[in-house]
Amino acid sequence: MTKISPSVLAADLSNLAAEVKDIELAGADMVHLDVMDGVFVTNISFGLPVIESLRSKTNMIFDVHLMIVNPEKYAERFIEAGADILTFHLEACEDSASLLDTIRSHGAMAAVSIKPGTPIEDVFPLLDKCDMVLVMTVEPGYGGQKLIPETLEKVRKLKAEIEKRDLAVEIQVDGGITAENASLAIEAGASILVAGSSVFKSTNRKQAIDALR
Ligand code: DX5
Ligand code: ZN
Repeated sequence: MTKISPSVLAADLSNLAAEVKDIELAGADMVHLDVMDGVFVTNISFGLPVIESLRSKTNMIFDVHLMIVNPEKYAERFIEAGADILTFHLEACEDSASLLDTIRSHGAMAAVSIKPGTPIEDVFPLLDKCDMVLVMTVEPGYGGQKLIPETLEKVRKLKAEIEKRDLAVEIQVDGGITAENASLAIEAGASILVAGSSVFKSTNRKQAIDALR
């Protein structure tokens, strides 16, 4: 079954613990935490102290998406802070293979992400070291954008490669996912859908999560 990972970027961040509780009750499978440094992307969100303090409030799976430069400098600290899945950007890292190994060796699930302009073939040599690949369906940096349809072609190619090699790698999509296009992403091969606006801005979050699934 498709898993749903709501992104708290669209939540009321002044009530973060309550917002996370709310989506847990609404049936979310994990919570997506977008870390932005103002360098890799132009926006700044939140970082280690927020994740660390949220950790004591919930047992939900923390799906941490690092949109930062030099992710290798911070990976261990994000895992210590509570990340269960740790995703970094291929474009931001000089040695993605060794960072994936480091993440796994510290007990988290390791994932790499690519921006819409990066060819999917660039992640193929890394697949043996990945528990998940995040294919960005918008340019990273902001919530509330529209999905770029061409990115789903990359999901399709990735799914075919994973099946060909008989690997157990999850495919996550992130950006502009709505009840209207979720089925296209799932049909292309996505197994985890990140959704910010379409869950947190909805008046009925349970219904919104069910509709995505
Ligand atoms: C964008 C972030 C996304 C964002 C998704 O850079 O990685 O996780 O919060 O938000 P929506 O679902 O509103 O596009
Ligand atoms: Zn994200």
